[in-house]
Amino acid sequence: MRNWVKTAAVGLVGASLLAGSAFAQDATKAIGYRQGVMKGLSWHIGPIAAMAKGDIPFDKAALQHHADALAALATLSLDAFPDGAAGIEGTKALEGAVSSNPEFAARDRQLVIATSAAAAGAASVAEAGDIVPLLTLVGGACQACHEKFRAK
Ligand code: HEC
Repeated sequence: MRNWVKTAAVGLVGASLLAGSAFAQDATKAIGYRQGVMKGLSWHIGPIAAMAKGDIPFDKAALQHHADALAALATLSLDAFPDGAAGIEGTKALEGAVSSNPEFAARDRQLVIATSAAAAGAASVAEAGDIVPLLTLVGGACQACHEKFRAK
């Protein structure tokens, strides 16, 4: 195959994959995606909490990396809560946990604000103790949404 043919073929496959993801947003896919985003948040907040507690050594570069990852993931989270994918079998998302619900969207917005503030604040952290307020801010945003919109 000539190179341009390959390129075109790859382009077409890519386009059809994209079309698939844009149109086939069924509940199961949304739930899987969302739980992945949530696991990602949990993955990146873990080392931040461990540093704050002194369980692992303070590492400024690692702190920044994890704080940036949280901020990036936070911007993806609202998209993972389409209508029809909450309050059903296979998810702990309670009925109101949909992006079209203004109260839910507001809690998600709080996460975006808290994580971007933490990512900005990470730059001026000098020691482990300084992490606590950032962690509290982000952790508070997680908890505020879970309390209202996630089944126990
Ligand atoms: C705007 C609401 C909201 C915010 C903010 C939020 N979560 Fe969640 N989270 C949910 C909902 C709803 C579920 C249940 C998802 C499901 O079962 O489909 C969930 C599930 C989870 C899960 C379980 C995922 C799994 O394995 O099924 C973890 C872990 C988690 N969240 C961590 C976090 C962390 C850490 C933060 C903060 C950095 C956070 N969440 C912020 C709404 C939120």
